[in-house]
Amino acid sequence: MLGARREDRLREVVDRITAQGGEAVGVITDVTNREDLKRLTDTAVERFGRLDVLVSNAGTMAVSRFDDLRQDDWDAMVATHITGLLNGIGAALPVFRRQRSGHFVNVASTAAYTVKSPQAVYAATKAAVKVLTEGLRQESGPDLRVTLVSPGFINTEGVGKGASPEVAAAFIRQRDEMAIPPSAIASAIGYAMEQPPGVDISEIVVRPTAQA
Ligand SMILES: NC(=O)c1ccc[n+]([C@@H]2O[C@H](COP(=O)([O-])OP(=O)(O)OC[C@H]3O[C@@H](n4cnc5c(N)ncnc54)[C@H](OP(=O)(O)O)[C@@H]3O)[C@@H](O)[C@H]2O)c1
Repeated sequence: MLGARREDRLREVVDRITAQGGEAVGVITDVTNREDLKRLTDTAVERFGRLDVLVSNAGTMAVSRFDDLRQDDWDAMVATHITGLLNGIGAALPVFRRQRSGHFVNVASTAAYTVKSPQAVYAATKAAVKVLTEGLRQESGPDLRVTLVSPGFINTEGVGKGASPEVAAAFIRQRDEMAIPPSAIASAIGYAMEQPPGVDISEIVVRPTAQA
């Protein structure tokens, strides 16, 4: 099951998976919209009979200095990282409880561990992801699994996207110097998922060796 806002990109991934003999379904999803998450999890259950894992990965790195007053970007980070994560929990938790199994994988950032200017709003919302994930883990027993995955610099199109011009330039420079591929995060998530029942990988931090 794939959820994303951009229909063309969603269709492209679904087509790539089905062309290789896999089965995939895409649902247009804006994580800030509670109904969209519900539709995503309901569709998973309808089409595949169950929901094994919810990976909450949507994020925005529209970072800027406070003096720039980019308040829409602050709001978007709060809405995507905090409300979006809660919408996923609200949609998947009843399904997981009914099944007596399920796995939340929440993507934070190394920014959840240390704040570096001008990333304060981003870091605060990612610290919230970390806190919510730990609280959820404490309440999720005895059947459910909860994993926090915190990437460092990863080579994606999102680095610098929407950030103020000087921040974007610095981020892109750092990305080009040291970023590691997204597959490093995918394999960390795969590792958490492939554990036998009863084993919870609670927290994974994956960063380039070159990242201070
Ligand atoms: N790349 C890094 O260095 C890095 C480091 C630490 C943590 N992370 C985290 O890793 C995650 C993935 O980021 P990325 O690097 O892969 O960036 P990306 O290429 O920009 O991917 C982020 C995705 O999230 C989607 N998204 C944003 N807001 C959304 C919403 N309201 N509803 C649904 N989807 C939404 C974006 O969709 P649209 O295409 O529609 O905008 C985009 O596809 C994020 O949570 C990010 O904070 C990344």
